[in-house]
Amino acid sequence: GVHVIEPGLGYLACGMVGAGRLADPEKIVAETLAVLGVSQDLAGETVLITAGPTYEPIDPVRFLGNSSSGKMGYAIAEAAIRRGAKVVLVTGPTALTPPSAAEVVQVETAEQMRNAVMEHFAEASIVIKTAAVADYTVKQRSDQKIKRKGEMTLELTPTADILAELGARRVKPSQIIIGFAAETEHGIAHAREKLRNKKVDAIVMNDVSQAGIGFGSERNAATVVTTHEEIDIPEMPKFAMAQRVLEIALKLRTPQKSEVASR
Ligand code: CTP
Repeated sequence: GVHVIEPGLGYLACGMVGAGRLADPEKIVAETLAVLGVSQDLAGETVLITAGPTYEPIDPVRFLGNSSSGKMGYAIAEAAIRRGAKVVLVTGPTALTPPSAAEVVQVETAEQMRNAVMEHFAEASIVIKTAAVADYTVKQRSDQKIKRKGEMTLELTPTADILAELGARRVKPSQIIIGFAAETEHGIAHAREKLRNKKVDAIVMNDVSQAGIGFGSERNAATVVTTHEEIDIPEMPKFAMAQRVLEIALKLRTPQKSEVASR
């Protein structure tokens, strides 16, 4: 039952040339995954993933943020790498360590996230936006720490909707764009509306009113809404859900049987 990874050829420590070098780490990983039956169905693809929250500064020490941990996006990044993809991970502030093979772009604000996503959009064949992007940013950031002085009002201004911009500016029709939506009520209806308005291929809808899943948790459950169907993903670890989301992304690119038949 032992699978042997043969040594590499080349110069050896003893001064001779031949078989005896430690196999390349990439080869060891690829062969291990092959033995484990992990398919390399994303080889040659670039997957652009956003993860985590965004922080909108109020003053030098305060910001508007949200409870996104980044775990779902990081799990998708890891899963895509294992399936052979090149991954660009645009991440807001999180406590997580990104997969070492990912190209990581650290951002804080929604605007920085937008710029990083736009920079990498053209090279991506699949875009998955798990990030919980702030919908509003502070209109006038204070350069000095704001002092307590009774009641105060913060004026906010809307941020750019990155996902909608991607949907409107698809570089090629084969690009698959998937958004996430955390909802507390009328989840499917809201997800369907986002699918239509943002012109994307799927919305992964999490019902965050359910205990034990979603933000900060190791587990998640979702309904994936596409133009053709609603796919229920029961509660499972985020890494398993990441694999399901990638499978759905690949399936979305395969023409639907009914469409093929009608051509
Ligand atoms: N999103 C984005 N840019 C924004 C806000 C959201 O790209 N400024 C993306 C998120 O990354 C996510 C999807 O849009 O993939 C849905 O996010 P959500 O906050 O649920 O969407 P909104 O359109 O802001 O709707 P809501 O009014 O429910 O907040």
